[in-house]
Amino acid sequence: MRHFLDIHKTAPNELRRIIDTGRAIKDARAGKPKGAVDADQPLKDHMVALIFEKPSTRTRVSFDVGVRQMGGQTMVLSGADMQLGHGETIADTARVLSRYVDLIMMRTFEEDTLLEMAEYATVPVINGLTNRTHPCQIMADILTFEEHNGPIRGRKVVWSGDGNNVFASFAHAAKQFEFDLVFTGPPPLDPEPALEGLYAIERDPHRAVDGADLVVTDTWVSMHDPQSARERRHNQLRGYQVNQRLMDHAKPDALFMHCLPAHRDDEATSEVMDGPNSVIFDEAENRLHAQKAIMKWCLEG
Ligand code: CP
Ligand code: NVA
Repeated sequence: MRHFLDIHKTAPNELRRIIDTGRAIKDARAGKPKGAVDADQPLKDHMVALIFEKPSTRTRVSFDVGVRQMGGQTMVLSGADMQLGHGETIADTARVLSRYVDLIMMRTFEEDTLLEMAEYATVPVINGLTNRTHPCQIMADILTFEEHNGPIRGRKVVWSGDGNNVFASFAHAAKQFEFDLVFTGPPPLDPEPALEGLYAIERDPHRAVDGADLVVTDTWVSMHDPQSARERRHNQLRGYQVNQRLMDHAKPDALFMHCLPAHRDDEATSEVMDGPNSVIFDEAENRLHAQKAIMKWCLEG
């Protein structure tokens, strides 16, 4: 069974194949209307369940559109409306869903929920974000970087802000795709200890960004963070905002990324988000192409 649960759980050569496939899938569709089906139909006659226990715009729409373009059908399920939210075990849910669908994509809170789903499902399971990681996003980001600026191997990527779930998948990717990752942020919001060794720390954001090929940030308060932490986090992170002054330390052709949704003029200024180095909407588009490659890879297993 080929699940796509995390970047560090997928071999580098497989990850490379997925990125290259995503690029080819994208190229093959150039100029076609969004609703047109692909020439290649690996999901023909396949049913895909998209489970969301948290809100989503990009993940939901890009998976739904991607499945349809590849000839399959989807059902979008809200965790709250399923028996899963009312006491049925994850293991039983996984076994039941596996009798109806060919693929499961899940966005949830605890990583253990996803892992249990994968353990008991007899169809592939894809991680659509947990409190700990967001691998589909980073696959789209690698695709985006390479489309604009060539191979990511050996490049300098700087993350400014909260050491959160999206950062964690960047840290996993740094090892698998062999790029240098620098984290800059306040000590209370450091990445989880399990990621140590995958990145360097530089507390001074300007020094961190010196010579960067890519500058990345994300929301200061994630969906799993308590809203009560908002003011404290804003105070802790204000100095790590990605603004033009910070971007000026990066290489002139450095890219700026944000997985979105963004809180404009908090973690990044609109000047940077809408500026010439920003590729935020390409990242969003590439979720579609990268995830189609991920689904194809899962089903080939
Ligand atoms: N970047 C991302 O996963 O966006 P959504 O929360 O809208 O799916
Ligand atoms: N870190 C954010 C990413 C959203 C796509 C969150 O978990 O809310």
